Amino acid sequence: MTKDASPVPATSRRAGPLSGTARVPGDKSISHRSLMFGGLASGRTRITGLLEGEDVLRTGEAMKAMGAHIEHAGDEWIVDGVGNGCLLEAAEPLDFGNAGTGARLTMGLVGTYDMKTRFVGDASLSSRPMGRVLAPLRQMGTQVLDAVPGDRMPLTLAGPKHAAPITYRVPMASAQVKSAVLLAGLNTPGVTTVIEPVATRDHTEKMLAGFGAAIEVEVDGDGARHIRIQGQTRLQGRDIAVPGDPSSAAFPLVAALIVPGSDVTIANVLMNPTRTGLIDTLLEMGASIDILDRRDAGGEEVADLRVRASDLRGVTVPPARAPFMIDEYPVLAVAAAFAEGDTVMDGLDELRVKESDRLAAVARGLEANGVACSEGEASLVVSGRPGGKGLGGGTVATHLDHRIAMSFLVLGMASEKPVTVDDARMIATSFPEFMVLMGQLGAAIDQD
Ligand code: S3P
Repeated sequence: MTKDASPVPATSRRAGPLSGTARVPGDKSISHRSLMFGGLASGRTRITGLLEGEDVLRTGEAMKAMGAHIEHAGDEWIVDGVGNGCLLEAAEPLDFGNAGTGARLTMGLVGTYDMKTRFVGDASLSSRPMGRVLAPLRQMGTQVLDAVPGDRMPLTLAGPKHAAPITYRVPMASAQVKSAVLLAGLNTPGVTTVIEPVATRDHTEKMLAGFGAAIEVEVDGDGARHIRIQGQTRLQGRDIAVPGDPSSAAFPLVAALIVPGSDVTIANVLMNPTRTGLIDTLLEMGASIDILDRRDAGGEEVADLRVRASDLRGVTVPPARAPFMIDEYPVLAVAAAFAEGDTVMDGLDELRVKESDRLAAVARGLEANGVACSEGEASLVVSGRPGGKGLGGGTVATHLDHRIAMSFLVLGMASEKPVTVDDARMIATSFPEFMVLMGQLGAAIDQD
């Protein structure tokens, strides 16, 4: 949790066109992994562009508690790792706050160590399912002690003397589950294999290869990815430049599209194809997004995005695209509220188990602000109102979810009446600069 004990509401109202250039913070997925893999590898890792959000800092604290040295020096984070297989038992419970990625990946990382590790977090994290990670870990020999019924946190893991390598077919589209098993494989003799029928973000595979892990990926005739990792090999520290987070860029991007007259450039955005589903969808909706100066940045493609206000039209989003834009549906729903016609989103099962039940939170937030929508078991249809006439005027329950808070503040930037979110504190978990950055572009947000 953040330090403030009570909710901090915020209200966003219509302002003039948004303009200027923005640089969003570093990618959250890559930032977590940079501290984690740097803390594990032998030697030094230097990180620039790290997201200094609460979620990522919790991962840094966890790695420190298990023996890594992590220092913030100027623009850089300097990490001296323990060496693969050499993590120490943490003296205190690891507190992951609001961070599912930090908690689940670390469960994999420590699950095959012959030591006890206790995981705690905030109310949101404690309500999220951990069984999806614990199931493969149990197969590898990990014991789960005193979990809350339903495999929820707080819980304690106790690793085996010798872990067993497994072949695991991931039953849901989850990069966190894939990653947890691969990380467990790092401290397991032999080859651990993850089969991923539906591709998800590939940062763990790419980054582990960069740290020198023996990892290979093969795609079979059905399109399933077979990822094999050889355990107990040496990892070597390296330099990492974290690109801008496309999931954070999504907020100024959608804001610029829906606020009339806007012209905004968002610099240095990660363009990894497993992360660009929102851009693909918005382009189909008629968005004016120029992808400028595509370039390589440390093994990942980045680009600058010039975004101009656009007349959007509703589309049907292919469900197969969901893993490549899973965190962006809330803000896509906001874009859809200003589009001509219906936007149909399906295959959204995983949205139910994010920082909040995001499908329900989005639907309730839209309804509270006069946006017509219909929520199904795993689907959402939003009927747009170009110009935003009559929209807004409601208060949105954010349920400790940063992306719900930011999405509905974006709604208020273009709706006729202001939009209030009940709590803006969680924005600091992933995008601490959000208020300042949006204000510099011309948005009008008041915090109580
Ligand atoms: C993440 C994976 C996704 C995503 C989350 C970050 C990651 O979660 O929603 O914000 O860094 O691996 P799932 O694996 O639960 O889909």
